Amino acid sequence: MYRTRYNRPQAKATLGNTMPTSQATTLIDALNDTFGSHSGVRASHAKGINVRGSFSPAVETGEIVVPALQHPQPLTARFSIGGGKPGISDKSPTVRGMGLSIGTDKYSWRLAMISAPVFFANSAEQFRAFLAARKPDPDIGGPDPERVKAFNANNPNTLPHQKHLAETAPCRCYTTERYHSGHAYRFGAKAAVFARLLLEPVSGRHGLTQAEMGARSDSFLADQLEQTLGMGAARWDLKLIHANAQDNTQDPTEPWSSPHSETLLGTIAIEAVSVSGDDMVYDPAVLPEGVSAPTDAVFTLRSPAYSESYCRRAAS
Ligand code: HEM
Repeated sequence: MYRTRYNRPQAKATLGNTMPTSQATTLIDALNDTFGSHSGVRASHAKGINVRGSFSPAVETGEIVVPALQHPQPLTARFSIGGGKPGISDKSPTVRGMGLSIGTDKYSWRLAMISAPVFFANSAEQFRAFLAARKPDPDIGGPDPERVKAFNANNPNTLPHQKHLAETAPCRCYTTERYHSGHAYRFGAKAAVFARLLLEPVSGRHGLTQAEMGARSDSFLADQLEQTLGMGAARWDLKLIHANAQDNTQDPTEPWSSPHSETLLGTIAIEAVSVSGDDMVYDPAVLPEGVSAPTDAVFTLRSPAYSESYCRRAAS
């Protein structure tokens, strides 16, 4: 399916925005520079597992109308670990990701959400600088702590993301994780509602205990997922977290105040691991009727970067 949109000659011509190609190239170069270039895998969220399932609409969504989400829909998804290393440990203190495509091709909504409520950069420059500060130093055998410290001191808006990861135990299973959009989407035409998305696991959020951390292998998540789904579908509520008046809808690094009003759009059920899906691109610029694209500076970077990553992995 995605071969059509993302085949090599058409990929850049079908982009939804006008970011120069060179910008996408520098973003993927920055990922490759820090994590290495690995044949045939995504430049970010390189390690992952494909799954399939279904979406069930909520009975009542009030003023929020997304026609594609008013009916049961099939979906594909991919769980992943953040970063560009296909061999990263499943216990790493980085984000977990969930790529989602709800509905059939023409009417689908594609999302790529992470386990942290906020992102680590609010511009292309900050994205590159964040990665450059974490590039392994050959003399140290890892990132230079002094460079990371200097980056953090100069970029305090990136700290809430890092604080969340430092304080949150890695998930026990991909199915016991929350996933957040970071961006604020706009719903409705007239009295628009701005909202971030949250996938809230129906079984609750559960992290590994210290004892479990020691007992698990570095690749336990795939087996754990098979085992969990073998006992039945895993479910998440897909919620809109409405922005309060003082919440910044233009910066995905900035935490929001609370409490918030919420709208339940429906429930996601993940039913089985899927053998297909490696060539899928969870490009968040693919939006259904009733949802407008976020207008922050990061969102516009994503579609061209995902396309560039796709082109490189398809070619290698
Ligand atoms: C500067 C902004 C960003 C850049 C340059 C970027 C880059 C990338 C790239 C290159 C990929 C791999 C695409 C592919 O080959 O299919 C990717 C995947 C992903 N990104 Fe981003 N990203 C950005 C922002 C975000 C944000 C804000 C989120 C969520 C809050 C996010 C979540 C994800 C997830 C979950 C995946 C994995 C999707 C899958 O399983 O296919 N990214 N990103």
